[in-house]
Amino acid sequence: MNAISMLIQQHRQMEEMFEAALKAEGKERAKLFAVVADALMSHVSIEEEHFYPVVRAKRTEDVLLESLEEHLSLKRVVADLLDLDVADPRYESKLHVLKEQAEHHHEEEEEKLFPRSKKLLADDELDELGDVMEEAQTKLLAAQPRELARAQTAAAAELK
Ligand SMILES: [Fe+2]
Ligand SMILES: [Fe+2]
Repeated sequence: MNAISMLIQQHRQMEEMFEAALKAEGKERAKLFAVVADALMSHVSIEEEHFYPVVRAKRTEDVLLESLEEHLSLKRVVADLLDLDVADPRYESKLHVLKEQAEHHHEEEEEKLFPRSKKLLADDELDELGDVMEEAQTKLLAAQPRELARAQTAAAAELK
């Protein structure tokens, strides 16, 4: 599958998942958060490990560095939420902030990074990259990738 189409599709899916988690309450909200947090952490991991390194170029470097900082910010909120009881009054606010930050980040990628990336890669390269990313993500999703957030809150990932 085309790598960019795959990432955009996941952005929309995660946005819907955040909506659903915010609408739910109690245990159901915590369950839905775990699902979207797994989706988010596996998504940012394949971007950092596979997509960003391949589209790194002069014209993308600034937006990639900004994206990595946005990932850091997302990971910090995910890590906070993992340690917070769903009954805590701050839970909903944090979840709301995470949703807004994710939406903003998706917009940045879709408006700046992806159009520039399309100019750097041919369609068959994007298809191949998409396959690699899909395989990596399937592996990540088998092992509760949300937990990765805890160990990645100190600094943004390095641009490879
Ligand atoms: Fe993304
Ligand atoms: Fe991202």
